[in-house]
Amino acid sequence: MYIGVDLGTSAVKLLLVDAGGQILKTVSKEYPLESPQPGWSQQNPEDWRKAVLEGIPELLCGFDRSQVAGIGCGGQMHGLVTLDKSGRVIRPAILWNDGRTAKQVEYLNNEVGREKLSRLTANIAFAGFTAPKLLWMRENEPENFARIAKVMLPKDYINYILTGVHCCDYSDASGMLLLDVEHRCWSEEMLSICGVRKDQMPALFESYEIVGTLLPDVAKALGLPETVRVAAGAGDNAAAAVGTGVVGKGGCNISLGTSGTIFISSDTFGVDPHNALHAFAHADGGWHLMGCMLSAASCNKWLCEDILGTSDYAAEQADVLPEKLGENHVYFLPYLMGERSPINDTNARGTFTGITMDTTRADLVQAVLEGVAFAIRDSFEVAKKLGISIPSAKICGGGSKSALWREIFANVLGIPLELLKTEQGPGYGGAMLAMVGCGEYASVQAAADALVKVASTESPSPALTQKYEARYQRFKQIYPACRELFAALAQ
Ligand code: XUL
Repeated sequence: MYIGVDLGTSAVKLLLVDAGGQILKTVSKEYPLESPQPGWSQQNPEDWRKAVLEGIPELLCGFDRSQVAGIGCGGQMHGLVTLDKSGRVIRPAILWNDGRTAKQVEYLNNEVGREKLSRLTANIAFAGFTAPKLLWMRENEPENFARIAKVMLPKDYINYILTGVHCCDYSDASGMLLLDVEHRCWSEEMLSICGVRKDQMPALFESYEIVGTLLPDVAKALGLPETVRVAAGAGDNAAAAVGTGVVGKGGCNISLGTSGTIFISSDTFGVDPHNALHAFAHADGGWHLMGCMLSAASCNKWLCEDILGTSDYAAEQADVLPEKLGENHVYFLPYLMGERSPINDTNARGTFTGITMDTTRADLVQAVLEGVAFAIRDSFEVAKKLGISIPSAKICGGGSKSALWREIFANVLGIPLELLKTEQGPGYGGAMLAMVGCGEYASVQAAADALVKVASTESPSPALTQKYEARYQRFKQIYPACRELFAALAQ
């Protein structure tokens, strides 16, 4: 058996999977998210550690623990985790959706320069990336910065706790803006720009490589054999893509979680010349392009739970009438945490536009679902302009459980969307990486061929796609009209 770990932003989701890919059990443990200042987003790595170490014994309850062979983790990307020389966490991790680094991003993109960043790392700076956070820490918390012995990403902290090995895989390392993505090694020049040394950085692995086995005291605490092997794992988007079989050349996965991403796999290295899409390593040994919006399913959660005061999403969506699809006069900009792809604007904010006296609660719910789909379409358009053909995509993440949202997405993008039998994207991908590391499958592609099965396909309807095309053209005008206002409001 294998344990897949999805170290998410709201919770860790653990899966127990047998070697044939059957999910035997799942356990989820939530942890808090701190926002000590507007736009900041932090978590305590100790909360992740506790959740994983408490969750695994719960997951294994009733199963023969001696049969566990490997563990693989997919984790929220970009978060800056720093440890001192005794292995203690120095400060809360600064997460992927944290917007505090506008000044450092400006320095990297405009003074170091986009062209140089792209040449060294295949990417430019975005607020959530790790390098600007190191610069922020150096500037704002010099005593903390001076204590750094180890820099790592969120799932690497879990691997460190499990094995004692300071490691990272190429897919997740790509999002630090410190990796030479094409050549899969640290960029010495970027490390020096950020004031960190190579000995502070993790050892690099392919996602499916084994980094070590369980530390004796951890094995004892979990009731697992010390021989359990831990794979390097991957950033959650690469792990989700593995879990949905988007590996090798030209596959596409859309993930509708707290963040929303469009992930295009490739067997060759390539960069978006405008760097609107990230160019990262993939967990199968290849590469991918990715657009990431910072608030996706979280927009729906915000509207339902925080504003409408309900967690019955299905009841809210039941009031969205089929004949209203493609006819909504209300538009929603989903930039509740600023936005990354493709607009790269920490000042961007959410808006409802076009509300009238006859606007209903259901129109607002619909506008939120549509606004998220339109914002993913923005990155989809960037990929299409690069000449990439995306005839269909897989869809995963919490939001993909909504049939209405899948229908909206399929028609806004105008392509069929496939839902998988096991829609546990990152956790399932993590377990698959462990299977490859332990020799169950010869490659990530072989594991995907054997394990990933399509459950259903949402096909677009030509009439509705046409209606949504007109709506999308309107949506596209709203952000440019608000951009300067957002900047002024941020002063
Ligand atoms: C990707 C990104 C998010 C997080 C979410 O670049 O920042 O998708 O990985 O966990």
